[in-house]
Amino acid sequence: MELNIPADVPGEKSKKLFKLKNEFIPQGISTTHPIFVKKASGPFLEDVDGNIYIDFCSGISTINVGHCHPKIVNAIKKQSEKFTHTCFMVVPYEQYVELAIKLSEITPNGVDMTVFFNSGAEAVENAIKIARYYTKKSSIITFSNAFHGRTLLTMALTSKVEPYKLGFGPFISEIYRVPYAYCYRCQFNLEYPDCGLACVEYLRKSLGIEIPLDVAALIVEPVQGEGGVL
Ligand SMILES: Cc1ncc(COP(=O)(O)O)c(C=O)c1O
Repeated sequence: MELNIPADVPGEKSKKLFKLKNEFIPQGISTTHPIFVKKASGPFLEDVDGNIYIDFCSGISTINVGHCHPKIVNAIKKQSEKFTHTCFMVVPYEQYVELAIKLSEITPNGVDMTVFFNSGAEAVENAIKIARYYTKKSSIITFSNAFHGRTLLTMALTSKVEPYKLGFGPFISEIYRVPYAYCYRCQFNLEYPDCGLACVEYLRKSLGIEIPLDVAALIVEPVQGEGGVL
């Protein structure tokens, strides 16, 4: 695929598909870009009108090896020729166990078990369930600017009201939000390192006062994505 400079974006075919999208798909499924993709390869993406772009979005950073990497395409082909779906909880299969073993080998000691989920939100929901069940505690600490998904629990953990939360409340309780370590726009108007880590101090002082001591989990994005790539 070779890069070309789009003359007319969105082109006629994308425009036609957007009209149909608006007719048959609810508006909750909003889209960021004004084009429909036809195919993609490595870093390139071609729209239905033949315009070719560099894809800096890459499935919200989930396609780290680029689009349609031959090894991944072959693995999908090989597996789909054997069987596509049984539901592991109904009829288990070796590949699930094999991948769990591989992950335990490359993760730090003590992280030895894996469960797979279908989406980020489902993984977060289950992490919270596991933390609450295991600790027998209920408080969850989350951060300003956080994004954890679009399901009801993960929206409660998410920070921004618009466009994610407006109109969907009430949300699950026992969720406590504290300032994120956002040095560029510090919520305490201080500068690192003179701040003395005011955000950490705030969290420390809130424990047992604003945040009950029965903390089951603290959930944090090491790099916030939706929050502004912080
Ligand atoms: C940090 C973080 N957590 C959770 C999610 C939710 O993932 P999904 O859209 O797969 O449910 C996202 C999605 O962008 C995310 O960026």
